[in-house]
Amino acid sequence: MTFSNRTPGDLSLNPIAGAIERLKGQSILDLTESNPTRCGFDYPSDLLSELSSPAVLRYEPFPFGHPRACRAVADYLKTKGHAVDPDRIVLTASTSEAYSFLFKLLGGPGDGFLIPTPGYPLLDHLLQMEGLEMLPYPLRTTEGWPVDLEKTRQAAGTGCRGLVVVNPHNPTGTFLSRKDQEALGDLCEKNQWAYISDEVFADYAYPGRVHNPWVPAQVLSFRMGGLSKSLGLPQLKLSWILLDGPSALLEECRDRLELIADTYLSVNTPVQLALEGLFRFAPLFQKQLMDRVLENRRLLEEGLNLNEVRLWPAQGGWYALVEITKKGLRDDQVVLELIEKHRVLVQPGAFYDFSEGSFLVLSLLPKTQDFREGVSRMADYFKGLTQKR
Ligand SMILES: Cc1ncc(COP(=O)(O)O)c(C=O)c1O
Repeated sequence: MTFSNRTPGDLSLNPIAGAIERLKGQSILDLTESNPTRCGFDYPSDLLSELSSPAVLRYEPFPFGHPRACRAVADYLKTKGHAVDPDRIVLTASTSEAYSFLFKLLGGPGDGFLIPTPGYPLLDHLLQMEGLEMLPYPLRTTEGWPVDLEKTRQAAGTGCRGLVVVNPHNPTGTFLSRKDQEALGDLCEKNQWAYISDEVFADYAYPGRVHNPWVPAQVLSFRMGGLSKSLGLPQLKLSWILLDGPSALLEECRDRLELIADTYLSVNTPVQLALEGLFRFAPLFQKQLMDRVLENRRLLEEGLNLNEVRLWPAQGGWYALVEITKKGLRDDQVVLELIEKHRVLVQPGAFYDFSEGSFLVLSLLPKTQDFREGVSRMADYFKGLTQKR
């Protein structure tokens, strides 16, 4: 029996997962928790009532999503100041699925997509599962994480079919500058690559920042968002893709994407019919989440004001980047020691493929009392290192 190479050859636990497994049953403060439904946010008790409306018993398949649901997404985006035509919206069960539809649409086995690096380690799996190549393009390790354009051009090779931007980026929490957006857009136009913009964290710009969506005009572009982040409801399984591009290309794109979406018809009817009502929860959820993120960031700033580490500035999103500035300390070693000696879990930058420096990645979603305790344990660990010398 053999398996395809769409899943990794080696499925053994990495040393961090191994350490957690060994400590099973013991309490570990998890500062990587980013499932919003486990972070103590208030969800109204009647939030899901419309999911059981009698209308849901009727199945009317629409490849791009129920027109009522597409309109609800357009209306929601209008509240954010973005005018979107409901006919240019495609619904999917998740943003991961949206990526997989776009990869199927645009690339064949052996083709590749330019992916920002460091970045969230989901894209490499999604690409591998489609038989596609990841073409990492570097963000420079300096404030704002600007794109290294020269290296991006070099990374493309011959089989490149599209370029992905994540805006704001995970895990750096930075928005792409307009200059970088336009330069990447030019590259796409010159090479006829599609432009895929992952905007799942766009609702979470920090005070003083705004998300200004932008796409190049002369190529197909796809902007993505979804309920898992906008409403903190990953279990409802609904995301969207906004299509744009020159009209002839767009028409063919819609026809081909329709065939893909029609093959799966994966978005459930209850969530689509309830969507308009669900979006009313957006201001309440997003306020709770922003308050949490800003308070936890403040705790990090205060608690890790140490020589051994530096909190990187960020402009949005759910994550924080802490650089280990003390020489000779590797991120994976620090993460293991934090688990084993202090029972606190953070992620090593290695999971995100940082090309230089030593970084820790923390979720800013955990309940504030847990976060405070976790930061205090981290501070004890770093202070202990200095005292040992
Ligand atoms: C940048 C980014 N894009 C996409 C996703 C996947 O989103 P979804 O839950 O809608 O599949 C995540 C998940 O955390 C993410 O961080």
